[in-house]
Parts: sequence; structure tokens; C-alpha cells
Amino acid sequence: MQKSKVDVILGIQWGDEGKGKIVDVLASGYDIVARFQGGPNAGHTIKFGGMTHVLHTIPSGIFHEGKVNVIGNGVLIDACIVCEEIENLRKAGIEARDRMVISDKANLILPTHRLLDAALEQKKGSKKIGSTVKGIGPAYTDKVARCGLRMGDVFASSFQGKYEALKADHLLQLKNLGFDLEAARIDGKTLAEYEKAWMSGIEELRSFQVLPTEIYLNRALAEGKTVLAEGAQGSLLDVDFGSYPFVTSSSTVTAGVCVGLGVPPSAIGKVYGVFKAYCTRVGSGPFPTELHDATGEELRAKGHEFGATTGRPRRTGWLDLPALRYTLMINGITDLVVMKADVMDEFDTVKVAVGYTLDGKKMEYYPTTEQAERVVPEYKELPGWKSSIGQARRYEELPAAFRSYLDFICQETGSQIKVVSVGPDREETIIRGE
Ligand code: GDP
Ligand code: IMO
Ligand code: MG
Repeated sequence: MQKSKVDVILGIQWGDEGKGKIVDVLASGYDIVARFQGGPNAGHTIKFGGMTHVLHTIPSGIFHEGKVNVIGNGVLIDACIVCEEIENLRKAGIEARDRMVISDKANLILPTHRLLDAALEQKKGSKKIGSTVKGIGPAYTDKVARCGLRMGDVFASSFQGKYEALKADHLLQLKNLGFDLEAARIDGKTLAEYEKAWMSGIEELRSFQVLPTEIYLNRALAEGKTVLAEGAQGSLLDVDFGSYPFVTSSSTVTAGVCVGLGVPPSAIGKVYGVFKAYCTRVGSGPFPTELHDATGEELRAKGHEFGATTGRPRRTGWLDLPALRYTLMINGITDLVVMKADVMDEFDTVKVAVGYTLDGKKMEYYPTTEQAERVVPEYKELPGWKSSIGQARRYEELPAAFRSYLDFICQETGSQIKVVSVGPDREETIIRGE
């Protein structure tokens, strides 16, 4: 029986809400930080002490001494990328090996998974998902098809043989897709070059603690240790509840914590829903409140809305409350965390979508992907706060107009805002009730 709980931090829009920052801020209150899904498609930015760090696979608790960071069974690992992260941390004086454990059941992204991702996107042409091309879709496909390779496999003498067999299968698929293997590059490397770096990454990972993390975590909970689960992507990119097929290939919602870490539903405690005060999306798919005007451009410029993983410009738009109400419902959010409102400090007014109409009728439920392409958002326009919120460290110090805006969000969603982020730095955070 658990004596303590797993609290969860999730993105409740289309990713890049600022999850990494909030995990880093709240990690000091937990014993363990655990990633439960996704892989290096994620880019989690953390800023403190004048430094900026971007993590892709490694949990965002890694900067805190004395905390254990778990890469759970639901996560995908690219040995090259995770080793780059390990190396970057080493340069910052952090030895990840001393602070991290990896699930023996986490699946591996092979170099050929990355090529398959590129080939499948190419084949889709204008209907492409706009994936991060990190091999996520093909690696999760192999996991579900029961032919993937897992971290636990890397210690067996059969590993090389299994690798070659899966690679041969991938090469055949690439040939059938008409993919030009000779011209292909993975992060600027040929397949042979990437494979060499990947194999030495595997060698390095063999020196890490690879164990059944579901047992480790359940024992820790039974001992009264606290766990913070870190989500990647966002609920609107969830494979079931997102705008399918323009989604990622994992369960990004609270239920994903149970399968991605091996903890029971009864162990779930608080669920923090992280959202931006506006919306962004990278890649294809519906975005009802998207702006194609100067305001959209201003949000992108002031919010530095360029992908932390791919560098792609993010699409921008107004806050979408129907979408938030839907993701709050799916996730059982207990506490809201609002990010990046400082980006709108100078706006005269701020718009918020409060409902949608479709073919002239008010929508009573959340739209399907096809409907979401056609819905017309109904907006409420609120006064801007016209002052800088970045210096505030207590809720009471925030401008009255901004607090009214937050009250409006709470009222419309029936939820409470627990954390207000007023800038990218760790220090630029207000936790209510502290
Ligand atoms: P994640 O994937 O959810 O961890 O988010 P990303 O790191 O991809 O994107 C969030 C971006 O916003 C990063 O560049 C952060 O440094 C930045 N950021 C986070 N919180 C705030 C905030 O409150 N204000 C501003 N201006 N930037 C923020
Ligand atoms: P973090 O954790 C934003 C998007 C891609 C694409 C779709 C599928 O930093 O919030 P995939 O590579 O997963 O097959 O791509 O999902 N996507 C993200 N968008 N933030 C992310 O992660 C994302 N991870 C994937 O742009 O539209
Ligand atoms: Mg990100």
C-alpha cells in the first residue's frame, strides 16, 4: 500500500506550455521525478543562474541534488540524443549517472526508426503530421507490434543480432517506401555515422542503473517517498484525445502516468495542468483560435515561440477555453499553472475563446478533428493589464486587471490557479498559498 502519492505535471494544450520550468520549480518538494511517455520529440527548457538548459529525454528534476530522476517504461530512448544530454549536463557539472535510473522496459529508438519517420512524412506529402522526425511514431509502432528493442535487451549477448534483424526489416520498409537511403541524413549524419554514435551511446547507457522502475517506484511510495510525474507534449496531442491523426503516438494524459510508470490509479495525487495564457502549436492540425495577423506575429516574437527541439516557428493564437475545459475533464486537473502571460503585458486588450459555433449552431461538446477545422470561436475581450508582471513574486503584487483576467479563466473552467509563471527563470514564479 502506498503511503504517499504521485503528483503529475502535464501540458494541457499542444505542448511547449512550460512543463520543464514548472517541474524544475516544484522538484525541490519531491524525492523522485519521473518521465512517463514521449521521447526526444520533447524539448523542456529550464532557466536559472543565467543559464538555459534544454532537456529532451532526461527528467527536469536533474538539476536538484539528492533527487532521483526516473526514465519510465513508457518513454522512448534514442541513445545518441540521451548521451548528448548527458554530455551537456556533464559540462554543467552534473553527472546524470548519479541522479538517474532507467526502466529496463523503456523502448529504444533505432537510427532506422528516424529514417522511417522521415520516409512516412514524405509519403504523406501535404497531409504530413509535421512530426519532429525523432522516430517517435515508428518506434511506438514497433513497441505495440511487439518487435521493439528495450533497454533491458542491451545487456544480453543477443542484442547485436536483434538489432541487425530489426534494422534489416526497417531497411526493407524504407525500400518499399522508395526512400533514398544514400541521400538521407540524421541530424547531419549518414546512417552509418549515426549508427556508430548510437552504438557508443548504448555502451555508455550500459553503465547506468537499468532496472524495473515500476518496482522501484512502488517501493518508494510504500516507504512514503513522493513522486512528481513529468508529462511531455500536451493533452491535445494525445493519441486518443488529441486532434487525431495530427497527434503524437503516446498517451500524454493523466492515465498515461499509470501505464508509463507502472503505478496504480489510486497512487495519483494532485494533477497540475500547465497552460500558456495564449496558445501555440507546432506541426499540422486544427487550431481554432490561430492568428494569422500582426498579433499572432507579436505573440511569436515576444514569446520566442520557436521549437526547443526543431527550431520551427510555432503557430500562435488566443487562449482557447473550450479546449481547456476538455483537457481538464480528461486529466482530472486539480491545479492550474498559467505561463507566459508576461508576453501580453503591453496588449491593450486580450481575447479569450469562450465557445465555438459550427454551421451557425453553438457546439455543446468538444469538436472532432474535422469539425475543429471549421468551428468559429466566440471571443470575450478583456482589458489588458498594460504593465510588467515580471517583477511580482506574490499574487497580491499582480496588477488588478491581470488578476481579473485570471479570475475569469478560473470561473470559466471551474478550476483554481495554483502557480503563475511571470518569466522564464526559475525565480520568476508565484506559488499561491506560500
Ligand atoms: P515545455 O516543452 O512545456 O517544457 O516548454 P518549452 O521549453 O518547449 O517552451 C516554453 C518556453 O517558454 C521556453 O523557452 C521557456 O524558457 C519559456 N517560458 C517558460 N515560462 C515562461 C514565462 O512565464 N514567461 C516567458 N516569457 N517565457 C517562459
Ligand atoms: P514538449 O514535451 C510541441 C508535435 C509535433 C507534431 C506532432 C507529432 O516539448 O511539449 P512526433 O514527433 O511526436 O511524432 O510529432 O506532435 N510535438 C510537439 N509539439 N511540443 C512537444 O513536446 C512535441 N512533441 C511532439 O510537432 O505536430
Ligand atoms: Mg517543448
